[in-house]
Amino acid sequence: MASSAFICDTEPWKDLKSHVENIKKTHLRELMKDVERCKSMIVENDGLVLDYSRQCASQDTMEKLFKLAEAARLKEKIDKMYNGEHINSTEDRSVLHVALRAAKDATIYSDGKNVVPDVWHVLDKIKAFTEKVRSGSWVGATGKALKDVVAVGIGGSFLGPLFVHAALQTEPEAAKCAEGRRLRFLANVDPIDVARNITGLSPETTLVVVVSKTFTTAETMLNARTLREWISAAIGPQAIAKHMVAVSTNLTLVEKFGIDPANAFAFWDWVGGRYSVCSAVGVLPLSLQYGFSVIEKFLNGASSIDKHFHSTPFEKNIPVLLGLLSVWNVSFLGYPARAILPYSQALEKFAPHIQQVSMESNGKGVSIDGLLLPFEAGEIDFGEPGTNGQHSFYQLIHQGRVIPCDFIGVMKTQQPVYLKGETVSNHDELMSNFFAQPDALAYGKTPEQLLGENVANHLIPHKTFSGNRPSLSLLLPSLNAYNVGQLLAIYEHRVAVEGFVWGINSFDQWGVELGKSLASQVRKQLNLSRTKGESVEGFNFSTTNLLTRYLEAESG
Ligand code: F6P
Repeated sequence: MASSAFICDTEPWKDLKSHVENIKKTHLRELMKDVERCKSMIVENDGLVLDYSRQCASQDTMEKLFKLAEAARLKEKIDKMYNGEHINSTEDRSVLHVALRAAKDATIYSDGKNVVPDVWHVLDKIKAFTEKVRSGSWVGATGKALKDVVAVGIGGSFLGPLFVHAALQTEPEAAKCAEGRRLRFLANVDPIDVARNITGLSPETTLVVVVSKTFTTAETMLNARTLREWISAAIGPQAIAKHMVAVSTNLTLVEKFGIDPANAFAFWDWVGGRYSVCSAVGVLPLSLQYGFSVIEKFLNGASSIDKHFHSTPFEKNIPVLLGLLSVWNVSFLGYPARAILPYSQALEKFAPHIQQVSMESNGKGVSIDGLLLPFEAGEIDFGEPGTNGQHSFYQLIHQGRVIPCDFIGVMKTQQPVYLKGETVSNHDELMSNFFAQPDALAYGKTPEQLLGENVANHLIPHKTFSGNRPSLSLLLPSLNAYNVGQLLAIYEHRVAVEGFVWGINSFDQWGVELGKSLASQVRKQLNLSRTKGESVEGFNFSTTNLLTRYLEAESG
């Protein structure tokens, strides 16, 4: 394929376009009868099981998707990523989050330099620092141990670490290591978030980690200044050196802010914000909470998937299969949304993290060459843990719109409960739902079945389930730090696969800029109106009216 051609102009895409019409005529009930097909759609790797037999796809579909991958030069693009080529062309950067979890003796090059020693230099520094804080040899300005950490950051400097933190909170080994410690995340510039985060904390025993790749993000910098003042007001400005550290690629601005460069933890421009959880962005706060050795296992889990993704043939490659199936669902079956449904409360922050990873990466309107896409890329991700989601939006998923679902289950729970007299454990109860829902979606319930159950005629349309709703099931052996790392990397790479096939740049995010610059104009106006009483000017009628009303209300 010539580099400027769209993937939709290729023969494999056109072939899939006609093939999808046949698939649409075949109900999943029929597809599921073919045991050979089902067997071929189960993939195992390192304790993980992926079953995608409930996708509206035949073995023929898969063959055609592999041809599409070839036309998109998927393998070549993956290799370019691992080779440190500047695949993020609009920012002229490599995309090397895989280097963040590479083994110490690995070699991964960016701009002619092996970046792995730099990665490990920072990891070693984190290890040493977090051990000092956790052991109490690094104390606050008043001599007290720093038991609490507030990580200040937003977007990619927040969502990934929050997901991992939530996932490990109830994991026995991690929970034991975290005894007596608290980790909180301050993201929103809303002062309510500040209040919620500092409630119950004392500046004397709190360490603030300011996390920002650019160290310019308005929300993070204001929140950082707010917490700096909180510490200063309580124990004096000299306390900042002991109570505030930073994670950034911009060490000059870190120093300007007043944080000792010795207490700054670097990362690099080849790490995208939403792909940065395995850098100091996540590793520092998470190691403060759980200890470095637990977080190292998380990195190892992600690394195992990096190897799998790079070296496994596409037919058995979990991120590749997931990515191709997403393209199939979005671009051919016409289902633009996806529900992420982990059957584990520990994964409650997984969907919010993947929302950013997926939608900020693939929510693009032009090809990597800047040409308007003749098809829609990206997908709308949302989700909730089961079974909570079942009592919320599953009605729509079962009888309303078709939304392909990712069911994520865990074989062994972090927190087993066996009640006396109950024949199934609490986890079995949860997992009964995990196993049942995909079949309910795939098979549905026919009017004939309802008639056989003597359902009143007038209720039959209401109680009918059309079925034929695609899902996939991903089973993790357990949910320890290693497995959490595996899950993270699977989804990161899946998103990249989608972007590579659609021919977009999944690693820039220009779409967040316009809102930021308009907010800065509003901020200027608020400042002028509040300090000099100037009236609102230069905005359209609607915004002028809203701003004026806001300014007239009691200031706050
Ligand atoms: O939302 C836009 C964005 O640039 C994200 O890509 C990024 O993760 C977030 O803002 C935070 O940026 P920073 O880490 O530079 O503060």
